[in-house]
Amino acid sequence: MKLISGTANNDLAKNIADVLDIPLTNVDIERFRDQEIFVRINENVRGEDIFLIQPTSAPANDHLMELLILIDALVRASAQRITAVVPYFGYARQDRKTGGRTPISAKLVANLISKAGADRVLTVDLHAGQIQGFFDIPTDNLFGQPVFINDIKEQFSKRDREKLLFVSPDTGGVVRTRAIAKEFDADIAIVDKRRPKAGESEVMNIIGDVAGRTCILYDDIIDSGGTLCNAAKALKDHGANSVSAYITHGVLSDPAVERISKSELTEVVIADTIMQPKKVKDCKQIREVSTATLLGEAIRRIANDESVSKLFG
Ligand code: R5P
Repeated sequence: MKLISGTANNDLAKNIADVLDIPLTNVDIERFRDQEIFVRINENVRGEDIFLIQPTSAPANDHLMELLILIDALVRASAQRITAVVPYFGYARQDRKTGGRTPISAKLVANLISKAGADRVLTVDLHAGQIQGFFDIPTDNLFGQPVFINDIKEQFSKRDREKLLFVSPDTGGVVRTRAIAKEFDADIAIVDKRRPKAGESEVMNIIGDVAGRTCILYDDIIDSGGTLCNAAKALKDHGANSVSAYITHGVLSDPAVERISKSELTEVVIADTIMQPKKVKDCKQIREVSTATLLGEAIRRIANDESVSKLFG
């Protein structure tokens, strides 16, 4: 087995390598003057089982292209099997036609990854589970939930946990929220969110009694932070004791960090599927938890042809 990292999330790749106790394969990833990407794999990979770690986070198009070019290099170097480990699968929110003459970009990206020569995909908390069907190769969609469950158990005392209320910031996240609430035998509430236009969100109603509760907002993505910060304000206005959030993918486009800093949120816990800039690392309200053990164990199981479904939480 060999582990290769693109440039998108070297920190996570190193942590996965530590978990598996194997080194990252030496690769050069360079730019020509016109910004075309060039890669060279500096070790023999003929006949190897390759795990290529590269989330397609911002800059999404560069990271995607780098992933495709690395896959191409590996195919041409006679790798035996290539698993694209894409902890954050960008373009996932474009998973259906939203109007006339619009694309289904998530399907296009899935086609590109398969066509480049990937044999399998390993990812975490796909925005919509059915995106797995966009690939005609095996796709393992791990849930970040076990990582968050451990953290919540550490952060909240048993007494606090009696008042826990898990909140879905929109109707699309109800199934995900119910699943984590079940682990704590807790109730759920739902924020009725409306998007007047892309990038803007408004809270219409809150479904459920939040007064006096310790609320945890649970979502797959925080992008501009509008959804989360508006939901936190509405929960506080309805009498919630405190509001924190657990989110898998910290996309955190501007002005998310500023919004979080000024918001009612006590803490936003994100997974490390996307490598964060200093600005995020310096934000006191944002804390990262690692998926390296989860991904490392999934990689180990895939390499050994063992069941991965045990990790699905
Ligand atoms: C939407 O369906 C997602 O689950 C997130 O709620 C959304 O992407 C968050 O976006 P933003 O942070 O820009 O409001």
